[in-house]
Formats: sequence, C-alpha cells, structure tokens
Amino acid sequence: MGDCILVTGGAGFVGSHSCVALAEAGYTPLILDNLGNSDVRVVERLGRITGTVPTFIEGDVRDRALLDRVFAMHDVAGVMHFAGLKAVGDSVRDPIGYYDNNVNGSLVLAAAMQQAGVKTLIFSSSATVYGEPERSPIPEDAPRRPANPYGHSKRMVEQALADLQHAQPEWRIALLRYFNPVGAHESGLIGEHPQGKPNNLMPFVCQVAVGQRAELAVHGGDYPTHDGTGVRDYVHVMDLAEGHVAALRHVAKAPGLLTLNLGSGRGASVLDVVKAFERASGRPVAHTIGPRRPGDVSAYWGDASLAEATMGWRARRDLDQMCADSWRWQQGNPRGYE
Ligand code: WQD
Repeated sequence: MGDCILVTGGAGFVGSHSCVALAEAGYTPLILDNLGNSDVRVVERLGRITGTVPTFIEGDVRDRALLDRVFAMHDVAGVMHFAGLKAVGDSVRDPIGYYDNNVNGSLVLAAAMQQAGVKTLIFSSSATVYGEPERSPIPEDAPRRPANPYGHSKRMVEQALADLQHAQPEWRIALLRYFNPVGAHESGLIGEHPQGKPNNLMPFVCQVAVGQRAELAVHGGDYPTHDGTGVRDYVHVMDLAEGHVAALRHVAKAPGLLTLNLGSGRGASVLDVVKAFERASGRPVAHTIGPRRPGDVSAYWGDASLAEATMGWRARRDLDQMCADSWRWQQGNPRGYE
C-alpha cells in the first residue's frame, strides 16, 4: 500500500478521476468529501476501476476538529485539495459562500496540515484567476485579474499558499490552474454529473445527445473567432488527473512552490465541440445560436509548455476522445450515479 494521499473533494468530478490516477501510480487515496456537489456512490465505482474501494470520510474541510482527527488517524503523506465551489455564476450571486468554502476551507486545511506536520499540498486552482486575458495562449506569468468571486477566491488561496511557502520553505506546494476539464474515465463508470441544469458546455451537449434536453443554446455566434462561437481550452479530465500525480511526484523531489497551467494548449470553439461530439456519438446535437452569455470572453486557451518542460506532462487525449469518453459515461449513466 503506497503513500496515503488525502483527497479533499475526492468524490467530485476532477477529484474522483485523480483518485484513479493516484491508485494507478501506487498511492493510497483517502477521500474527504461533504457530498455537497458529489455522490457517495462514486466510492464504490472507484473500487471497481482500481480494485480497491478507497476509505471515504464524509465531512467538510472547514471542520478543523475533523481534520485533526483525520491526520491523527491516518499517516497522510500529502494532500490534493479539490473541495470547493466552482460555478462562476453562483459565485456572483453568493460571494460569501464562495469565500467561506474556497478560501476559509483552504486556510483551515493548511493550518491543520501545519499542525500535523504534513507539508505537501497540490491545490486545484483555475484559469479563471487570469480573468479577461490580453492574449492567448496564456502563460503562467500573465496578469491575474479575476472577473468574478470564484476566480478571486482561487487567486486568494494561491496568494495565501505562496506566502505560507515563503514563510516556511520546507513546504512542497503546487498550484495547478485548470482550463476546461471535460470527458470521463474510459470505463464509463465515473464522469461529470452536475446537479440540475448544466452550466457547462460538455454536460449540456451530452444531455441533448441522450435526449434529456431538446437543444443546445450556443451562447453567441458573433465573436471574433474562426466560426463566431466561443473558444476554450478543453482538457481531458484523466490528463488533468495524471497532471496532479506528476506534480505530486515533482514536489516530492524538493520543497518549493510550483505554479502550472494544466491545459491542452489548443483552442476549440463551441461548434468544434458540437461537431466532435456528433462524430463520437453518431447522434445529432440540435443547437441554435443565441445571444452571448454575460461575463463570457470570446477566446482563451493556455500555454501548457511550462508543465511539459518542468515535469514532462502534457495533455495526450484529443477532443474526439474527450467526446467519446463523455458519451460512454452519459449513455451508461443517463441519470448519473444511481
Ligand atoms: C464553454 C463555452 C460558453 C454552455 C467555466 C468556468 C471555469 C471552469 C470551467 C472551474 C463558452 C459556451 C456553454 C452552453 C454554450 N470551471 N456554452 N452553451 O465558462 O469557459 O468556464 O467552466 O474552474 O471556472 O468559468 O465553461 O463550459 O460554461 O463554457 O454555448 O449551454 O461553451 O459560452 O464559450 P467556461 P463553459
């Protein structure tokens, strides 16, 4: 049984896929999740994928007493911190809830880690810390000008962790900025299952293809892009998960602070995604071009070269595989984890 890694939010979309990558790399994931936006049945699915059902603790990272008990009861070698809220629109409506979950939660976790002497932390950050980019591809040293409370919350945690590592140089910290995570594990046993009407593109496209929703509203057809629709950097969730393991291995070599984009380095438009999904599923995805969504930028994608230069990681799965894997998950689980 390899090193125990505490995975906060480990029943969630990126967290659960990272548990697979951890197990495949010989680590022992230990899941802490408050099930606020995830389903406990993921844990059994992880057992079917990896051969071992991970230990699951239901709880919230803001519960300091619980964290102290977790560190007392388990020999935790490091932490991957996914627990948090991640919907931009919701963050505008509920900024305090976002700062409490994302900032306060991360600070309580870091304090508990410090007390327990656990000083290896992989933090789930986001490309939304960049806000409206001056240009794409976006390098890690681009200005951070978040445009919403969600992005600000991630930026604040990045700052707090950078200050911590500066004050205590023995810390080993990676700040991983995701672009748009999509797809699902190839088994089709775990995947993205948003509660209610999906905000994000890929789950919405999946639900149209499987017949749960009538059609996709394309948010804007008049952007200055190759086909007028919004362009983003989609990255397969398993590539992202493997990127977390690569970062864990990298920081294990030496203390320090690592800040990396995890993206494909390529832009794809909404219509590119629709066409790729139709190829992958063999199903039409009915769609209409509607008005732009407030807050959207026209195009952004990441410069992923630093992750490759630093730790030899790059996204290997292309848009067609992202769509094929999403479709397999959606077909097998039309109503999520039942
Ligand atoms: C992608 C593209 C939309 C839905 C968000 C968060 C970001 C990150 C990833 C956490 C855009 C278009 C979408 C629809 C559409 N999450 N679209 N119709 O906004 O790039 O990023 O998710 O870190 O923080 O901001 O992702 O999937 O919502 O949109 O046309 O029904 O699809 O306009 O061009 P986004 P998205």
